[in-house]
Amino acid sequence: MSKPEIVAITPLPGFLAKPLHENFTVHDLHGAADTEARRALIAKIAPTTRGMVAFGGSQLTPDQLANFPRLELISVMGVGYDGMPLSACAEAKVKVTNTPDVLNDEVADTAVALTLMTCRQFVGAQKFVESGGWLKGQFPLQHSLWNKTVGIIGLGRIGKEIADRLRAHKMTVAYFGRNKQDVPYTYYGNLVEMAGDVDVLIAITPGGAATKHMVNAEVLEALGPTGYFINVARGSVVDEVALVAAIESGGIAGAGLDVFEDEPKVPDALFNRPNVVLLPHVASATHETRQAMGDLCVENLLLHFAGKPVKTLVPELAGKVTP
Ligand code: NAP
Ligand code: 8YV
Repeated sequence: MSKPEIVAITPLPGFLAKPLHENFTVHDLHGAADTEARRALIAKIAPTTRGMVAFGGSQLTPDQLANFPRLELISVMGVGYDGMPLSACAEAKVKVTNTPDVLNDEVADTAVALTLMTCRQFVGAQKFVESGGWLKGQFPLQHSLWNKTVGIIGLGRIGKEIADRLRAHKMTVAYFGRNKQDVPYTYYGNLVEMAGDVDVLIAITPGGAATKHMVNAEVLEALGPTGYFINVARGSVVDEVALVAAIESGGIAGAGLDVFEDEPKVPDALFNRPNVVLLPHVASATHETRQAMGDLCVENLLLHFAGKPVKTLVPELAGKVTP
């Protein structure tokens, strides 16, 4: 029996490529040399391609989706699927799956690491040693986490793991979201108000239109010159122009950023600042966690093509497509 055909719109790491090639005929759209080659490949594979593999940060427009009229499932290796055209998928009856939960600990660890690195300026401290600064004097004192308040924007699966970890660091936890939850933390239905009350503001919501530029100039102004901003959510959640302005003017004390509006481009104005820590979207990037994400991504494809319900259909499509 011939293997189902799937298309990869992202480069495939080895741990994902191997099981995919074993079970499917994989078309590598990402590897197409240029637009023309891409167009030719799509024309060739579109009539027979039934599955697609994408990453959390992948973008697919409704027009690009329409190129694949026989598509049945998009399996996203990532918990975020803000780049997927969900309305068009619902209309075309294309399932979208993601990889929730398996990366909670890794991303929460990264959020805590970024918080410590930013508030304590550990990157600046290493540069101080390497540039001989220590031979001439002491590194400036920084600020502690204990006894401070953290405001988490998006107390979901990952947000709760961040809260657990920061409580162990003796921080008080507050959170902002659309719904008050049954948790022992202070709830804010107003982000500006929460930003005004906390020392560290951490974003870990989904991206997309609903959260675009949620952290804007007003929120950063409320956070103020002694407040730190940490982003492990999506670059789109923050107005990056306003963020750069707040850093340049001392409007906030510092920022720790794993995600950016136009990745992999990062504004030059954020470079070489002791109070800014920059990571290249690596919050889930360990062998162990990416393997678990890859396994779940493949499992959803295998279940679907075995005629069984997928494991992690995105909630927006529940009731709109057969699971
Ligand atoms: P989740 O369990 O669905 O939690 C999302 C949280 O955000 C919920 O608490 C939700 O609370 C809140 N939220 C959603 N929409 C909102 C809105 N419009 N306004 C305010 N709050 C909103 O998701 P998760 O698994 O924790 O993942 C969260 C996100 O983290 C992902 O979608 C992804 O974008 C990002 N992420 C980034 C990386 C990275 O590599 N940097 C890795 C993994 C995940 P309410 O429903 O009460 O509003
Ligand atoms: C990954 C992510 O960088 O899960 C997400 O939403 O942003 C990250 O874990 C990405 O999905 C790579 O596959």
